[in-house]
Formats: sequence, C-alpha cells, structure tokens
Amino acid sequence: MRKIIFLITLAVLGAATCAWADIFGKPFSDGSPSCTTCHSVAAGGYSISTWGPDLSSLYIDMGEDAEVIADFIKASGIEPMDAVYADSDIPDEEIQALVQAFAGLNPDEASVEGGSNILISAFALFLILLFIGRLVFRSNTQLEENK
Ligand code: HEC
Repeated sequence: MRKIIFLITLAVLGAATCAWADIFGKPFSDGSPSCTTCHSVAAGGYSISTWGPDLSSLYIDMGEDAEVIADFIKASGIEPMDAVYADSDIPDEEIQALVQAFAGLNPDEASVEGGSNILISAFALFLILLFIGRLVFRSNTQLEENK
C-alpha cells in the first residue's frame, strides 16, 4: 500500500514538473513560437544559448509588473519579436500563465545549476584518476610478484 502511494506521489510530481517546464517550451495555441525558440530560460531548465538574452530574470527585470510584460511581448519594438507576436492572436490567459511562470522562477537557480555541473565534472575526473591509479598500482604489484 505504501508503495502505491509512493508511486502515485511520484507520478503526480513528475507530471507537475513536466507541465511547468513545458510552458516555456511549447508554442502558443495560435501557433506563435515560444520564447525559448529564441531565448534561453536557464532557471526554467532551458539553458541552450540562443538568439536573444536569457529570460531567467525577466519578471524582476521588468518591474514585476504582469501588465508591462504582457504589453511588451506583443509590442516590444524588437524586430524578430514583433515579426512573430505583433499580429498574433495569443489568448490573454496564455500570456498571463506565461508571466506567472516567469514570476515563479528563481534566477539564482541558473548559476546553481552551473555549479552542480562543475561538481559532477570534478567527481567524474576523480573517478577516472582513481581508475588510472588502480591500474598503475596493480601493475606495480605484478612487478613486485615477478621479482
Ligand atoms: C523570433 C525570435 C524571438 C522570439 C520568439 C522571442 N524573442 Fe525576445 N528577443 C529576441 C531578440 C533577437 C532579442 C535581442 C534584441 C537586441 O538585443 O537587440 C530579444 C530581446 C528580448 C528581451 C530583452 C529586451 C531588452 O530591451 O533588453 C526580452 C525581455 C525578451 N526578448 C522577451 C521575450 C519573451 C517573453 C518572449 C516570449 C513571449 C520572446 N522574447 C520571444 C528574439 C525573440
């Protein structure tokens, strides 16, 4: 019984995480491309560097004002963005949901993620050195046995 509850919790958490991440990745319902087509959102898990600047701190940068952000998206004055959004029919609810997702990001997480990558690399290097060390050590004992 406990196992089942555990599995259900895991499934719900997993689905919630996917839905959260997806809001930055999926296009709008009218077919307009997502922000991550041209931007990274490192704090939201989209860290591939792209055309425009990273949007992890968008909400803070734009004065934490949902109205300002919504207006900006449809009339940014940035040529590639106006080309896809100026005449779009993105429903307001989708813009608001996106703005709320930006509001929920912690911009610091982007650098934390980078930090853990360095830790993982260091650990991998440590394992490789350990392996080489073992090889060297083993060949030494063989040499000693042959004496
Ligand atoms: C077709 C590509 C494209 C898409 C899609 C796009 N952007 Fe941009 N965006 C750009 C480019 C290119 C720049 C950089 C312009 C520059 O530096 O002159 C930019 C700049 C920005 C800036 C910085 C503005 C400034 O003045 O510093 C913000 C904020 C921004 N975009 C938000 C968004 C959001 C939010 C979305 C999704 C709703 C989005 N962008 C979708 C191409 C895009």
